[in-house]
Amino acid sequence: MAGVTSGPQPALLDRVQDGVLTLTLNRPDKLNALDNAMIDALHAALAYYAPREDVAVVILTGAGERAFAAGADIAQLRDRKRSDALRGINATLFDRVARFPAPTIAAVRGFALGGGCELALACDLRVAGRSAKFGQPETGLGIMASAGATFRLAQLVGLGRARELLYTGRLVEAEEALRIGLVTQVVEDADVGAAALQMAQMIARNDPLATRLTKLALAQVADATAGPAAQTFANVVQAVLFESPEKIKRMDAFLARKKRP
Ligand code: COA
Repeated sequence: MAGVTSGPQPALLDRVQDGVLTLTLNRPDKLNALDNAMIDALHAALAYYAPREDVAVVILTGAGERAFAAGADIAQLRDRKRSDALRGINATLFDRVARFPAPTIAAVRGFALGGGCELALACDLRVAGRSAKFGQPETGLGIMASAGATFRLAQLVGLGRARELLYTGRLVEAEEALRIGLVTQVVEDADVGAAALQMAQMIARNDPLATRLTKLALAQVADATAGPAAQTFANVVQAVLFESPEKIKRMDAFLARKKRP
């Protein structure tokens, strides 16, 4: 299924080679911000490839050099209501990523913010270029990181660090990300694709069934500390915040901001 979506600029690019599926978020002019078209395209791709036994590993990456994904599309997020929060639009997608039968690797250059960071967290592994910057700036926008960060970030870096990152919204650069366990490898930006591919090929050489079952076993550990109830709680919290005046004020301020000279 080369090209999950069609048109002059498909939201997502897909390519399978030697058992490795590469999915590329393709909206570089908006720093690959996750809009509805991209969310639909990712759902379609994951549904299409999940049953394919020839896919041993997935690499998820962003087009362009500036971002993996700079978060949910704030123009669309601004208009989402309580009912959207309860549907968990990003959360449902990221859960699908997390439960994809084969291992997933996020190959990150540049910004991985908000939902972009949570998407990387939903992957099994993260490889970063030196330009990578991870962060959860949601509280600055009057909302919560409700698509997995409250439990996946805590599981990766510990509750104490997760608290600091979620409360401050500060950026974590590549070397710090490596030190705190947010990523497993840092390489030069130009080598991110090759490093992710090398990791994917190592995984792909092993028995696919043994690998998939190992992933399922690890998912039991993750679910034991934060299962579906944690996500439901996050959706309800977000429903409260999605209709708050402060959210509208803060998102309008982002949308009206002056661009850097
Ligand atoms: N939603 C929608 N559009 C976004 C976006 C987002 N999350 N992040 C970036 N963009 C768009 C910008 O609006 C801009 O579009 P334009 O050229 O049509 O104006 C384009 O991507 C480039 O971003 P810009 O802000 O001009 O680049 P910058 O280098 O000045 O700043 C960031 C980069 C990442 C610091 C800044 O874009 C930013 O803060 N983005 C929002 C991050 C965020 O809060 N994400 C969490 C959402 S929950």
